[in-house]
Amino acid sequence: MTTKPAAAPPTTNTHLIRWVEKMAELTQPAHIHWVTGTQQEYEMLCDKLVEAGTFFPLDDKKWPGCFYARSTPTDVARIEERTFICSLSKDNAGPTNNWEDPDVMRKRIKQLFTGSMKGRTMYVLPFSMGPVGSPMSQIGVELTDSAYVVVNMRIMARIGAPVFAEIDKGTHRVIPCMHTVGAPLEPGQKDVPWPCNDLKYIVHYPETREIWSYGSGYGGNALLGKKCFALRIASNIARDQGWMAEHMLVVGIETPPDANGRTEKTYIAAAFPSACGKTNLAMLIPPAGFDGWKVWTVGDDIAWIKPDASGQLRAINPEAGFFGVAPGTSDKTNPNAMKTLARNSIFTNVALTVGANGKPDGGIWWEGMTDTPPDRLIDWCGNPWTPANKTPAAHPNGRFTTPASQCPSIDPDWENPEGVPISAFVFGGRRPTIIPLVFQSFNWSSGVYIGATMGSETTAAAGAPVGKVRRDPMAMLPFCGYNMGDYFRHWINMQRNLSYTPRIFQVNWFRKDANGHFLWPGYGENMRVLKWVVDRIHGHANGEETAIGWVPFFEDINWEGLDIPRDELRKLFDQLQHINPDAWKREVMDHEELFIALHDHLPAQMVYERELLICRL
Ligand code: OXD
Ligand code: MN
Repeated sequence: MTTKPAAAPPTTNTHLIRWVEKMAELTQPAHIHWVTGTQQEYEMLCDKLVEAGTFFPLDDKKWPGCFYARSTPTDVARIEERTFICSLSKDNAGPTNNWEDPDVMRKRIKQLFTGSMKGRTMYVLPFSMGPVGSPMSQIGVELTDSAYVVVNMRIMARIGAPVFAEIDKGTHRVIPCMHTVGAPLEPGQKDVPWPCNDLKYIVHYPETREIWSYGSGYGGNALLGKKCFALRIASNIARDQGWMAEHMLVVGIETPPDANGRTEKTYIAAAFPSACGKTNLAMLIPPAGFDGWKVWTVGDDIAWIKPDASGQLRAINPEAGFFGVAPGTSDKTNPNAMKTLARNSIFTNVALTVGANGKPDGGIWWEGMTDTPPDRLIDWCGNPWTPANKTPAAHPNGRFTTPASQCPSIDPDWENPEGVPISAFVFGGRRPTIIPLVFQSFNWSSGVYIGATMGSETTAAAGAPVGKVRRDPMAMLPFCGYNMGDYFRHWINMQRNLSYTPRIFQVNWFRKDANGHFLWPGYGENMRVLKWVVDRIHGHANGEETAIGWVPFFEDINWEGLDIPRDELRKLFDQLQHINPDAWKREVMDHEELFIALHDHLPAQMVYERELLICRL
């Protein structure tokens, strides 16, 4: 079947038009649709997805403008083992990435993409990561045969006509992003609700700045603006251009008004591995004892950070929505997220609630949404479910896709084209032992060492053995698009062009007592730690020098509003902040594991910092 000619392309960019023609020749779609990004188009695509059985509209009274989707058990998450960085040399990808010779991969991918969109529509989806027109934004065009991808991308990025207009200015390098679910349709063949292929490839060519994704329709594998572009390709662009593409949330912390009614807002960027509560921290509501304090959300997953002309680092959130993990999200853990996702959202792989007739009643549920589950549900696989079931009703990686603009705590400056000024970086992981609740690095290079040696205990959601500490430098292990040793060097070098050096902190919300219980309540209470961070930035709080860095004195933390007797609090604080030199010596030995793998690219500063730490211990 030949491709039906599309309506006149809404762009004058001949390179783009020719590329689309060439890719249509390769993939042989039945139709080409140039995405305009309008509400009308969005509704048309949602209708089409409902008709295809991919989408199920939710009850418009309970969940206005929301849809439910269910993928298949073989396509539920990012797949690191099928993700490739195909740089010209293996050395450039480094030991932490899967590498394949780009010539070999190109042949394989070309074969796979040949005819891969047969019987489907190829959507030409222009998108801007960052506000359209911001000097910090980057532009891509995703060619995809998935309408599900288009409607999700409309929430997660700025798409459509304004982006074509930006491309037509001719001043941007446009990143080509190819995506197919890898499920061509023969004439007359009936489609399935979630087309995909058992074979999957998520391929990046860093030098030519291209992305080719085959076989998956889910999340970061398919919404190519997110992890593929905004982290793996952007980390390459950032290194070359002197800025940073980081797996970080950004929040603004505002003090109560002073006597003159003035408040002070301090922006912090924080890196945590997946499944450590980034979205919760990004939308934190200050607890009792913090009257007048506000936490504003700029982003929950990715930050692009550049020095401005004065040498101050400024950050934008390249995304326009939140693609958050649903299980565990509730009015208790994250009320702002619950308010954000209450309308105009897409829910994937959560459970459906049912009415008296046992049929879906247009509601949804996931583990943790309420304390007790409903008596009956339809689980994420489409099967009847009751609380007696051994398997969860929602997939642990079930997601909501929701517009950031709907977030009650969204920062008034979240779309500022110049970004927001960053005063500190915070690194955190899931560490049941050893790492205290909070400490501050001595300086930039010891802070980079903290980020570089960050680790996190694996959780069930990661699909890896549970309970083992995996080193995840700056939470970028699956997302750094080049050699991790060079990435550390880039971090070290960044400071040279700064007039203000952001302070660097490590936090650990996940320390446990001898009985395996979490010591720290987390969630809103994390504000107590953030306040110390802000106070340190402005020189308003003391700190005690220890072998690993500066730690707060008990009196430096605001404990107001916590219903725990003072002496118990003090005991808790001592447990949370305890530094065990022997355990730390073992910890430092463990840092060696990653450093050995990276040895020929490791900046000398990392070796010196390690030696200094050993001496101090
Ligand atoms: C994510 C991740 O999906 O980090 O954001 O895995
Ligand atoms: Mn993430």
